[in-house]
Amino acid sequence: MNTHTSPSHGTVRSEIRDRIAILTIDNPPVNAGSHAIRKGLIEALQAAGDLRGAILIGAGRSFIAGSDLREFGAPLAWPELPDVISACEEAPFPVVAAIHGVALGGGLELALGCDYRIATEDARLGLPEVSLGMVPGAGGTQRLPRLTGRIAAVEMVCGSTRITGTRAASLGLVDALAEGDLLDAALTFLAQDRPKRVVAQMTVPDEDPAALQAACDKALKKGRGRPNVAEAIRLVQASADADVAAVLADERAVFQRLRLEPDASALRHLFFAERRAGSVDGLDAKPRALASVGVIGGGTMGQGIARACLGAGLPVTLVERDAAALDRSLSALCDALDARHARGRLGDAALAAQKAALRGATDVADLTGCDLVIEAVFEELSVKVPLLEQLDRLLPENVVIGTNTSYLDINAMVADLPGRSRILGLHFFSPADVMKLLEVVRAEATADDVLVTGLALAKRLGKQPVVARVAEGFIGNRIYAAYRRRAELLMLDGAAPQDVDAAAQAFGFAMGPFAVSDMSGLDIAWAMRKRQAATRDPKARYVTIPDRLCEAGRLGRKTGAGWYDYPETRPSPVVDAVIANARADAGITPQPFDAATIQRQLLIAMVNEAALLLAEGVAQRPSDIDVTLANGYGFPRWKGGPLWWAAQEDPAAIAADLDQLEQAIGHGFARGPVAETLAALKD
Ligand code: COA
Repeated sequence: MNTHTSPSHGTVRSEIRDRIAILTIDNPPVNAGSHAIRKGLIEALQAAGDLRGAILIGAGRSFIAGSDLREFGAPLAWPELPDVISACEEAPFPVVAAIHGVALGGGLELALGCDYRIATEDARLGLPEVSLGMVPGAGGTQRLPRLTGRIAAVEMVCGSTRITGTRAASLGLVDALAEGDLLDAALTFLAQDRPKRVVAQMTVPDEDPAALQAACDKALKKGRGRPNVAEAIRLVQASADADVAAVLADERAVFQRLRLEPDASALRHLFFAERRAGSVDGLDAKPRALASVGVIGGGTMGQGIARACLGAGLPVTLVERDAAALDRSLSALCDALDARHARGRLGDAALAAQKAALRGATDVADLTGCDLVIEAVFEELSVKVPLLEQLDRLLPENVVIGTNTSYLDINAMVADLPGRSRILGLHFFSPADVMKLLEVVRAEATADDVLVTGLALAKRLGKQPVVARVAEGFIGNRIYAAYRRRAELLMLDGAAPQDVDAAAQAFGFAMGPFAVSDMSGLDIAWAMRKRQAATRDPKARYVTIPDRLCEAGRLGRKTGAGWYDYPETRPSPVVDAVIANARADAGITPQPFDAATIQRQLLIAMVNEAALLLAEGVAQRPSDIDVTLANGYGFPRWKGGPLWWAAQEDPAAIAADLDQLEQAIGHGFARGPVAETLAALKD
């Protein structure tokens, strides 16, 4: 057996069996396509003598999880992926990619450069480059449409979707599905004297031009019109051009340019930040068993959590206070599942399985057999504390207890409970089965294995965990509150709500802060302000405008009026008058703010609050802040999160923004260690 290695990550092992070369790619943990792998492959292919064929196969759990993204910020060393693909195409024998686990990005492009592809049914294939700010750069936009047609290719490339081996076979992307051992299946496949078949020389199938255009328009809209999405569409469309070599060169040039641009750097930052956020440095505990979940409270949040668990194959017992409430919750939950089924998002078998895995109860004592119990009852200490006390008393010691809260002080809530070490905070975002973010809150007493059980739950549910310590609003809501406060002060000092919203949207937020407020309802924050009224510092600036709107019944979209008038979302003369009165009361002469100033002030408010949270130890690392905002608050991913954004800016400009923020907030302003925080992000 020959082994091809180089000093960088990964090895390619080469073995000849009956004149077939088996090239095994071995680069744990996910077989990223590193320089060493590329070099190993090209050397092995070129060293091959008189063969009947070659098989590329991955060691461990995957074929190749994509090119090694750690190499993408600098010039790529020879051989690059297209060189390896050329070696496959130029080999005088057919090359087969044998795919299990994942074949993503450069991994799938390599497979497309082979003559044939054989895959396991549950393999996952995809080209996620667009979600990383780039386009596929090793022929993905050219070879894929030759096998699947351009419509499916546009959808797959622009949506960065991952499809199963079974689906790939139905699209023509995979030539055969492996039954039993993958290598044996590939050997059998090659034994049938397969001719050489270079995908790049195949013809792109004809499709209805109108349907193709519709798919492209849809993809561009979904991709928020980002330049790399437009490039991907252009390249897939161009695959029908006669000169494939020219389009391949065009694709490579676009890829080489985009991978070094700010969007791609920011998205790579998030890629690695998201993987780190699910771990706690220095913690080496094993998660507890997690085979069944109890959810207490069948309101919107409880139902969403239950749906998320059911969707992940976890049986759920839902507890409500009485039979009538339970009945309402269970039927609402089943209706939601039926609606997903009707939209084609849930198959017949999955619908039946999820319904069968759901049961109801009216007594928390019925939860003793669960591994994890999540309470999602009303966000009020007087409701949550007695319930947690009851759960701690009734449930066996091995059961982990999660409290779903957005603001409450978990340390104080559990201080008197003997079993407080098995309690953690699980801050889900609504709707809980859809929103990606899960703040896993580590209270003072939370045991290490309980914390990692929370992280394991997030992974099981397909959510993005971020670990937070206890603080009002934890990480996300506290930063969002600082952002919203700055938005309101900008308005008081002279900006119109629609100007603030337009500036936020121009930066890339899906919606501005006032439109978000209208969507979620002004009454939630109003109730909180009323609760805090007694303890508010009277010398701190306070914006009365939202209180006046609430008093006038303008609670947002649900009342047809809030910061805007609905249904058309128009600026409102009533709001203008309330703003004018508030300015007059405070003796403020309105000043103009341009969009850039509004954006920078909104962002610096986030950055300052983030620096405070890090200094307080509420968040573990700067990158966790970026992960939180990008996954739960509509922060544009291609900007990498507020701290990544700030770290790319001129430090002197950031310091000036901070001074301006301090002036605007005035009394009570707490200045965070922003410069130090940003420096840590660069390390
Ligand atoms: N390049 C470099 N490192 C990669 C990588 C890549 N393409 N893909 C994964 N990794 C690393 C992760 O950073 C992580 O490193 P760490 O252990 O030091 O934190 C490790 O591999 C494991 O990845 P993780 O995502 O935590 O494992 P998983 O088992 O949950 O998921 C995958 C495995 C392959 C499904 C997942 O990593 C994935 O989706 N990768 C996407 C790769 C991609 O987008 N490729 C296209 C590149 S163009």
